[in-house]
Amino acid sequence: MWWFYRKGPSGFSGASTAEEVTAGVDGHLLVAVITGATSGIGLETARVLALRGVRVVMAVRNVSAGLMAKDAIVAKTPDARIDVLELDLSSIASVRRFASEFDSLKLPLNILINNAGVMTRNCTRSCDGLELHFATNHIGHFLLTNLVLENMKSTCRDTGTEGRIVNVTSAGHVMTYPEGIRFETIRDPSGCKSAVRSLNDFIAYGQSKLANILHTNELSRIFKEEGVNISANSVHPGLIATNLFRAFGRTIIAAFFNTVGRIVRRSVEQGAATTCYVAVHPQVKGLSGKYFANCNIASPSSQASDAELAKKLWEFSLQTVS
Ligand SMILES: *[C@@H]1O[C@H](CO)[C@@H](O)[C@H](O)[C@H]1NC(C)=O
Ligand SMILES: *[C@@H]1O[C@H](CO)[C@@H](O)[C@H](O)[C@H]1NC(C)=O
Ligand SMILES: *[C@@H]1O[C@H](CO)[C@@H](O)[C@H](O)[C@H]1NC(C)=O
Ligand SMILES: *[C@@H]1O[C@H](CO)[C@@H](O)[C@H](O)[C@H]1NC(C)=O
Repeated sequence: MWWFYRKGPSGFSGASTAEEVTAGVDGHLLVAVITGATSGIGLETARVLALRGVRVVMAVRNVSAGLMAKDAIVAKTPDARIDVLELDLSSIASVRRFASEFDSLKLPLNILINNAGVMTRNCTRSCDGLELHFATNHIGHFLLTNLVLENMKSTCRDTGTEGRIVNVTSAGHVMTYPEGIRFETIRDPSGCKSAVRSLNDFIAYGQSKLANILHTNELSRIFKEEGVNISANSVHPGLIATNLFRAFGRTIIAAFFNTVGRIVRRSVEQGAATTCYVAVHPQVKGLSGKYFANCNIASPSSQASDAELAKKLWEFSLQTVS
């Protein structure tokens, strides 16, 4: 575990917390959308960005849980600026509804944090909808990103501030399937739509997080090509958190609000650190298409750097939503 505590070139390590890595950052001119912000790492990310002055829009599946999470943040940070909007990433209609509700707030958008993982409580090893859930979550974030992009582009044109898209890759998946199921080991027996099956081919290609990383890379390439000042990076939320999530599984959300104790909270604070670092730290300015872990640039698998594959996944996703 020595490397976990060792500081990388950024000056931070896997043991750094979200508050530590954002110390001194003034976010008052920034607006961020965070998906899956009601619990765990998403909630901590929302809390810390709001603490730094960022106006946070929590995109949540369960609005009453979202409002409770908002209250919890405001209790600690009374001048936190937070909106709660409904978003179910497994429903294309819900994603579109969210986008238009967000539009009607007439806010600019500087930061998009695609944090929500697959949130199917009921799924077990035999759940046939597994790929479907993964696919819709991928597609959900893909569509969400595309729908808010114009806003992000005009925000960075108008303000001269770099836009940032941060994609959190794996906590959700591990958290949802505490039995240790990995997407790449699951095969759909039958019944899923063929579109889903071909997405599954991509997933079968390597690790479960591949699709996210590939998508982020492709997005980053497109921005560079278009000369748009928006970065897109992927984030791994950190080891301790991930392991704890695996161990505690479904009870993690309850655990966060109650007490499994200091260690869980500490690890959520660390889990949110890389996301917050990539979202607002000045050191990250100009970096795009990178993969971050423990608040430093890391290298994903070689497949995840495959530009050709990234392009294919992008085209496939586009077909699916249109
Ligand atoms: C939504 O959140 C509230 C408050 O935590 C909870 O009581 C309710 O059961 C949740 N609803 C669903 C559908 O999960
Ligand atoms: C969960 O599974 C049980 C039994 O397998 C079923 O009765 C219930 O409706 C499911 N709940 C959801 C939310 O899908
Ligand atoms: C972000 O990650 C989600 C899964 O968490 C994935 O479905 C989506 O394609 C990714 N989006 C971007 C912009 O990379
Ligand atoms: C992007 O925006 C940042 C300010 O956040 C600025 O420093 C940088 O020069 C911009 N880059 C380009 C290519 O316009």
